[in-house]
Amino acid sequence: MGAKDMSIAIVGLGYVGLPLALQFARSGVKVLGLDIDAAKVAAINAGQSYIKHIEAATIAEMVKSERLSATTDFSRLREVEAVIICVPTPLNKNREPDVSYILKTGEAVAPHLGRGTLVVLESTTYPGTTDGDLREVLERCSGLKAGVDFHLAFSPEREDPGNPQSQVALIPKVVGGYTPACLQRARALYGRAIQTIVPVSSCRAAEATKLLENTFRSVNIALVNELKVVYGAMGIDVWEVIAAAKTKPFGFMPFYPGPGLGGHCIPIDPFYLTWKAREYGQHTRFIELAGEINTAMPAYVVNRVAEALNAQRKPLNGSRVLVLGLAYKPNVDDDRESPSYVLLDLLKQRGAETAYYDPYVPVIHPSREHSHWAGTRSVAWDRQTIASFDVVLISTAHDAINYQELADWANCIVDSRNAMASVQAPAGKVWMA
Ligand SMILES: NC(=O)c1ccc[n+]([C@@H]2O[C@H](COP(=O)([O-])OP(=O)(O)OC[C@H]3O[C@@H](n4cnc5c(N)ncnc54)[C@H](O)[C@@H]3O)[C@@H](O)[C@H]2O)c1
Repeated sequence: MGAKDMSIAIVGLGYVGLPLALQFARSGVKVLGLDIDAAKVAAINAGQSYIKHIEAATIAEMVKSERLSATTDFSRLREVEAVIICVPTPLNKNREPDVSYILKTGEAVAPHLGRGTLVVLESTTYPGTTDGDLREVLERCSGLKAGVDFHLAFSPEREDPGNPQSQVALIPKVVGGYTPACLQRARALYGRAIQTIVPVSSCRAAEATKLLENTFRSVNIALVNELKVVYGAMGIDVWEVIAAAKTKPFGFMPFYPGPGLGGHCIPIDPFYLTWKAREYGQHTRFIELAGEINTAMPAYVVNRVAEALNAQRKPLNGSRVLVLGLAYKPNVDDDRESPSYVLLDLLKQRGAETAYYDPYVPVIHPSREHSHWAGTRSVAWDRQTIASFDVVLISTAHDAINYQELADWANCIVDSRNAMASVQAPAGKVWMA
């Protein structure tokens, strides 16, 4: 088939799959989006967006020009020459990898796999998932052989949600193939939509690359979280120190402390490696230490709230606490694994009356992790409401929030994001956490 009429499918149209589908469509590739969520499929076909930072107009334009369509019908995979899988890879309740979404997708894809089709996994996972678990399912359910009858590869996603500077086309793409021919096919596929392709020797090397990238972040965030506590005890502002250190033009990269890790990647992915390493009798001490420090952060922040209240002769028990920012990072509407939920839980356990404000999460939807908060609504943003809380805890600092109004309206602010750094506030009103 010629490059011009390349036709592919993307399975899983979430935060990763949808931007990737749009990038391929923009590059002139015909994209069929597949998802088990019929609401997402209907939204795409109607030219609507369900992700805040993706514009409906972009989707509508691609749908109108017939370069993008969506379906729940896996039999339509017969129409495509490549299938890219972007489904979730969470941890189960015992904090172990849950690759069931990948395996279920494999079972759904296999019966419709044509000879010569390329299958690429993008979901973050442990080394061995693609050429082991996924290959096994695809071969068993299709009767075809990987590397002989169909091609197989892994290419990790490097999406940076909410960063307007981040463009899928410009982010180099690491690709590993099951065989050299698989790699060739995958390079040609991504070369259609992405400027720089970085080939590696195997699917496992590509899987391991993604885990290194995310573990690197987790470990460095743990380091600055530890320093926040240590320097805080010494009366030194860690934010000032990081700002000064980052003026070093080499050998330093800034990471920032916070109330705990959030999102679908950094709190989760390192434990995919930890789990797999055990099979080889290896221990990931660094990763686990980082996890320990990062998961201790919400309790540290809640203790700072208690100290701030104590200074006003108020107990945490019975006080009204507003958590500001529910999304896991600024300027996005994604609340998966957000530390704000851990803060809400801890505050509630200690008897506080809790509420939250987030312009991008007007109501909490049911989810795997925090169904007990489902249905709770964001409070309104006005003087009377904000002043009715004993303390406001800044958990996620969206740019759209007016921090000067917050300083003027709130009784007391506990800031875990340095959001109040350049805001005028009376002495003693803002506590760092
Ligand atoms: N969100 C990020 O910033 C990011 C960045 C890099 C890597 N990743 C990785 O990419 C993968 C996907 O993450 P995401 O954030 O896009 O998840 P998501 O939850 O936003 O999207 C996943 C989509 O897959 C669909 N789905 C689930 N099971 C399916 C099945 N059997 N068949 C078809 N569709 C199915 C869901 O309905 C959903 O629409 C994960 O492995 C994640 O770790 C995410």
